[in-house]
Amino acid sequence: MGNHNANSTNLKGHMRSHNCAELRASDIGKDITLCGWNNKYRDLGGLHFVDIRDKFGITQLAFDEFTDDLGILKELSLESVIKVSGIVRGRPDSAKNKKMDTGEVEVAVKSFEILSRAEEVPFLPHGKVSATEDLRLKYRYLDLRSEKLQDILSIRSNAMKDTRIALYSEGFTEVETSILYKTTPEGARDYIVPSRVHPGKVYALPQSPQTMKQLLMIGNTDKYFQFCKCFRDEDLRADRQPEFSQIDIEVSFASQEYIKNLSTKIVRSLFKFDDSFEVPTMSYARAMEIYGSDKPDARFGLEHTIVTDLFKGSGFSVFESIIDSGLNKMIFIPKTMKEFSRKEVDALVEVVKPHGGKGVAWFKLNGDEVTGGISKFVSPEILANLKSAGNITEDGTLFFCADAKHSVAHSCADALRRHFGTKLELIKKDVYKFLWINDFPLLDYDDEDGRFYACHHPFTMPKLENLDDFMAGDPKKLQGMTAEAYDLVCNGYEMGGGSLRIYQANVQEQMFKVLGMGEEEVNAKFGFFIEALKYGTPPHAGLAFGFDRTVMLLAQTDNIRDVIAFPKTNAATDLMSSAPSMPDPAQLQDLSMEFLKK
Ligand code: AMO
Ligand code: AMP
Repeated sequence: MGNHNANSTNLKGHMRSHNCAELRASDIGKDITLCGWNNKYRDLGGLHFVDIRDKFGITQLAFDEFTDDLGILKELSLESVIKVSGIVRGRPDSAKNKKMDTGEVEVAVKSFEILSRAEEVPFLPHGKVSATEDLRLKYRYLDLRSEKLQDILSIRSNAMKDTRIALYSEGFTEVETSILYKTTPEGARDYIVPSRVHPGKVYALPQSPQTMKQLLMIGNTDKYFQFCKCFRDEDLRADRQPEFSQIDIEVSFASQEYIKNLSTKIVRSLFKFDDSFEVPTMSYARAMEIYGSDKPDARFGLEHTIVTDLFKGSGFSVFESIIDSGLNKMIFIPKTMKEFSRKEVDALVEVVKPHGGKGVAWFKLNGDEVTGGISKFVSPEILANLKSAGNITEDGTLFFCADAKHSVAHSCADALRRHFGTKLELIKKDVYKFLWINDFPLLDYDDEDGRFYACHHPFTMPKLENLDDFMAGDPKKLQGMTAEAYDLVCNGYEMGGGSLRIYQANVQEQMFKVLGMGEEEVNAKFGFFIEALKYGTPPHAGLAFGFDRTVMLLAQTDNIRDVIAFPKTNAATDLMSSAPSMPDPAQLQDLSMEFLKK
C-alpha cells in the first residue's frame, strides 16, 4: 500500500492502538486493538482466521485462543466493520507471508466485536476489482475502500501540501474567492444558480476565478494562490470534468519569466525533481509544425514534416488539389522500427476518421526503390525532396495526412503519431516530458459564427508589438496576432495555462469589442471590472494548473475520475447521488421558476 501516514503522534482517544499495516516481529507479545473491515474469513478445519483490513493494510487474526462463542464468525459477512483486541504473536515459519507488511505476525484474538454488519456488497473493493465502472461509480464509497483509490487520494493530498509549502515559501497569500458569482468566460457554458431573493436573476458559478484574482491584484494582494473549484458546462472527455480543481495563481508586477520560474519550482517539488530540472520552451507554431498539437507528447519522436508543396506535378490529385491553401504532413517510420503489412496500413484510415481525415496515403522506400500505396506518383525528384525535407537516410514507410483545412491535417497527423507512439511502444512510462508552449495566437476566427474568439481568455494581453494594431482593430491584422500566453504541457496533457493580463481599461474594452460584444453587454457583464482597471492597476500575470490533471500525471492514470473523490460521468451525472435531480415543486415556487416542457 502507499505511504499513508496514520496516527503519527498517537493522540489518545482513538479506538485502535495500531493500524492494520503496522505490526511487526518487534511487536510480539504486545496487547493491541485493531479496527477495520472483514477482508476474508477462513475456516481451516476448525482453525479460524480473519484478515482485517483498513486504509493502511491487512493483518491476520487467529482465533485458537479465543474463549468466547466462535459462532459470531458465522455471522461475519465480508466488509463488516470489526474491532479486535488480542496479543501479537509470531507465525510459524511455514505460515510467514513475505508479500504482506505484517506477514511475520498474527494477532491471537481475545475479544471480538462486530461494529457494523455489512449486507452483501455489490462488489468487493479489494484485490482486483472486476465490477464495471458504472457500478463502481454508483457505489463510490465502496470503490474508495480500494488500495488504488486510497493511494491516489494520498497522492492528491500530498500534492496539495507540497504546492502550499512551495508557494508559502515564496510569500504567497491563499485567498478563497466566490462560488456564487457572475460569468467568468473561459470558453464554456456557465452553470447558473437562480436567486430566491432576486426573482428572475441568477448567479453564475465561476469557470475560473480569473476576474476575481485580477481584482485581488488591483486590491494589493501582490501574490495570490488558491486551490479552487471551476465549473464548466462543456463536452466532457477522459481528461475533463464539469467541476474540476485548479491551483490558481496571480502575481503583481511579474513577468512571464517569473511565472515560469515559479511553476517550475512547483513542478520540481510535486514530482520530486532536483534543482537541475528545467522546462524547455517551444513556440506554438513549431509545436503545430512538428506535432500537429499544442499539447504534444514529447516522450517520443516521429515528428511531422510539412510536404504540401513537394507534390506539385505529381499527378496525385488528392495532394495536388490542396497545395494552394491546404496542408500535407508526412511521418516516416524506419524499417528497423516496423515493417507494415498491407492490412495494417489500410487500417490506419480508422485512426484519422474521427478527426475528419479522409485517408492515410503511404509508400515504402527500399534503397532508391519506392513501392506500394501512392508510389506510382513519386518521381525520383519528389522522392529526393521528401527525403531531404524529412531527413530520411534509411529504408522505411512514409505516411501522409493531407487536408484543405490545416486544422484537420494537423489533428490527423497528430492522431497518427500518437497511434504509432502507442502501437510501436515508443512511450516510456515513468518519464515526464514537460514543455512550455509560447506565442499562442491571440484570437481565433470562427468562419461559421463570423466572429473572433479569445484563444486563451479575453483578459490576455496581446504581444506588445501587436498592441497598436490591436487597438486599431483591422480584422485582417487581428487574425495573425500572438498573445502573451503560455501553456505548461506534459506527456500530451495541457497541465496548466496562463498569460500576462490586460491592465489598461481601454485595451480591455477594445478586446470585448473585437470579440463582438456590444457596449451594453460589456457594461452589464464586465462594467465593474473595467471600472476597477481605471483606479490604479499593477501589471500582473498568472497561471492555473489543472490540479486533477496534475494528479493524473503523478498517479499515472489516464482517467480523470480516478483522481476525484466523487467524480461525474461523461454525461455530467453523479451515479451515486443521482445528481442532477428534479427540484421540489416548493423550491421552484420559492425561486419563481417553472421548467419548459421539452
Ligand atoms: P484554462 O482554461 O487553460 O485557464 O484552465 C487551466 C487548466 O485547467 C485544466 N482544465 C480542466 N481540467 C479538468 N476538467 C476541465 N473541464 C478542465 N478545463 C481546464 C487544464 C488547464 O490547463 N483562468 C485561466 C488561467 C489563467 O489564465 O491564469 C484558466 O482557467 O489543465
Ligand atoms: P484514393 O485515390 O481516394 O483511392 O486514395 C489513394 C490513397 O490516398 C489511399 O491510401 C487513401 O487512404 C489516401 N488518401 C485519401 N485522402 C487522403 C488525405 N486527405 N490525406 C492523405 N491520404 C489520403
